[in-house]
Amino acid sequence: MKKGCIVAGVLAPHPPHLVYAENPPQNEPRAECGWENLRWGYERLRKNLENIDFDTLVVLSPHWQTYVGTHFLGVERFSSVSVDPIFPNLFRYHYDLTVDVSLAETMERHAREAGLVTRMMRNPDFRVDYGTIVSCHLTRPAWDKPIVSISSHRSTHYFSPDVMLASSLKLGHATREAIEASGKRVVLLASNSLSHRHFTTEAEVPEDMSREHIYHHGQYLWDMKVIELMKAGKTRELVELVPDFTEQTVAETDSGALTWMLSALDFPSYPAEVHAYGTVIGTGNAVVEWAHEAHLVSGGAA
Ligand SMILES: [Fe+2]
Repeated sequence: MKKGCIVAGVLAPHPPHLVYAENPPQNEPRAECGWENLRWGYERLRKNLENIDFDTLVVLSPHWQTYVGTHFLGVERFSSVSVDPIFPNLFRYHYDLTVDVSLAETMERHAREAGLVTRMMRNPDFRVDYGTIVSCHLTRPAWDKPIVSISSHRSTHYFSPDVMLASSLKLGHATREAIEASGKRVVLLASNSLSHRHFTTEAEVPEDMSREHIYHHGQYLWDMKVIELMKAGKTRELVELVPDFTEQTVAETDSGALTWMLSALDFPSYPAEVHAYGTVIGTGNAVVEWAHEAHLVSGGAA
């Protein structure tokens, strides 16, 4: 069998506001517009992915939170309504998605053999988390590819950011080995925001962009530092900063998603393509692409 590969990795944040603003038929609430900078960034990402042949989207989401080990979706189809617990006025999304169960099982086995505690999610009535749904929708609104969704083992909160760092690195390595063994061509999504200081009051009209901005200059500086390292290809340095970044900005990097993806990509030293940076309810979000296969083929160092 041909060796599988990761064709691209994406930092693909999941504010439900971005889906709301696009008015897809799956979402019940209607919007006038909003958050164009980030939405147009996702459009550029989608355009790039149109030129890449791939089999499966693999996403690690901060909103599927498990306290005993790392879990993988393990049922072929999930269909239900996802309602954002904080913003039910913006996100009531009817999803119907398929799972690449054989790839999920291969990943679970490799993670288990690497020493991680793992479990396959076999409950057909399980409600898929909105982080998985929003990141996958914004990356591939046609839903024409199966997904693998990986939970966030809450090591940051149960133990410490450093424990999360170590286990995410291990999970990333196991993910890469599993993909290579599977023969599949895969796009990885790290479904996390950057700095995460929220609004405390909501605008009357959610898409009122006069209210949308970062709320703390220190948080903004942290976001810019992190993005600068991505653009410079300094991903090992970035991963070392993640525990401090997480503590200083309450970033969703606490989920391990970004660290997992960079480890799976074997710490790219080529520049990432930043499609957009913008805030949603004051939190920092960046859409960033590592065109991994293209760089490997052109002889760039991974
Ligand atoms: Fe989130």
